[in-house]
Amino acid sequence: MPTVGFGTYKLNGTSGANVIVQALQNGYRLLDAAVNYENEGTVGQAIARSFVPREEIFVTSKLPGRHHRYQEAITTIQESLFRMQLDYFDLYLIHWPNPKEDLYLEAWQALIDAQRFGLVRSIGVSNFLPEHLLRLKKATGVLPVVNQVELHPYWSQPEQRKFDQEHQIVTQAWSPLGRANAVLQEPVIKKIAQKHHKTVPQIILRWELQLGIGIIPKSSSTGRQKENLAVFDFDLSPEEVTQITNLDQANGRTKNQDPAIYQEF
Ligand SMILES: NC(=O)c1ccc[n+]([C@@H]2O[C@H](COP(=O)([O-])OP(=O)(O)OC[C@H]3O[C@@H](n4cnc5c(N)ncnc54)[C@H](OP(=O)(O)O)[C@@H]3O)[C@@H](O)[C@H]2O)c1
Repeated sequence: MPTVGFGTYKLNGTSGANVIVQALQNGYRLLDAAVNYENEGTVGQAIARSFVPREEIFVTSKLPGRHHRYQEAITTIQESLFRMQLDYFDLYLIHWPNPKEDLYLEAWQALIDAQRFGLVRSIGVSNFLPEHLLRLKKATGVLPVVNQVELHPYWSQPEQRKFDQEHQIVTQAWSPLGRANAVLQEPVIKKIAQKHHKTVPQIILRWELQLGIGIIPKSSSTGRQKENLAVFDFDLSPEEVTQITNLDQANGRTKNQDPAIYQEF
């Protein structure tokens, strides 16, 4: 799995497909989609139009909360493939655990079988807390290979990262730029950016890579797409990494979506 991917939330229809084709031309080789973004058709269209061979692109989609029942989950994955016009996904995730509904074990069993059937190469989850992951392990013996979670300097998830690492689960950051919120004006990061002659977004993305996690920034601008990929020609010092990690806030989530409570269908 590429460590840097391209987020596709809000990229829909023809204009969305144009942006995603551009991202592929700019070098992105991972596309992050979801049933609930209502853009699997758009992503499939962009892949078909891009002239990049299918096997060079790592394609992710996600199972919505309303289809956690086993048979519905299998059918939903097939429908996702039909919409994308693909034969397989590289990665399919359970989008949210929805613990009050408590059906994510059933969804996980469906993903395990979807992998056996060849619909998906790898299976993972998104927004899962340690307690949810431990339940998957206990019930099925199979742990996800990826946990995609909210992660940016104001919400840096030290405990979740540690748990994932100890269980050989790759942590992948969603909203790695904090959805372009106040973090892009953060003085501590601005100072580090000036020193390295890089932009604030590049420093943030580099910090995430040096934490050992994957990133999927979204941008509708070709210039910013390129900027977000140009993060492999410099290193942050351990002190700089710590300074950014220390920006973590108790209420640092962008939209207060706590997976222990928040549910999405
Ligand atoms: N699993 C989940 O529950 C979940 C939840 C949320 C998101 N995601 C995934 O994660 C992806 C990324 O998260 P996100 O889209 O929420 O937020 P993000 O990538 O942190 O930020 C996107 C915002 O940052 C701006 N931006 C991007 N690069 C920039 C740069 N170099 N300089 C200044 N502004 C920049 C974009 O504007 P422009 O487009 O105008 O450049 C956009 O407004 C999503 O697209 C989606 O695939 C998953």
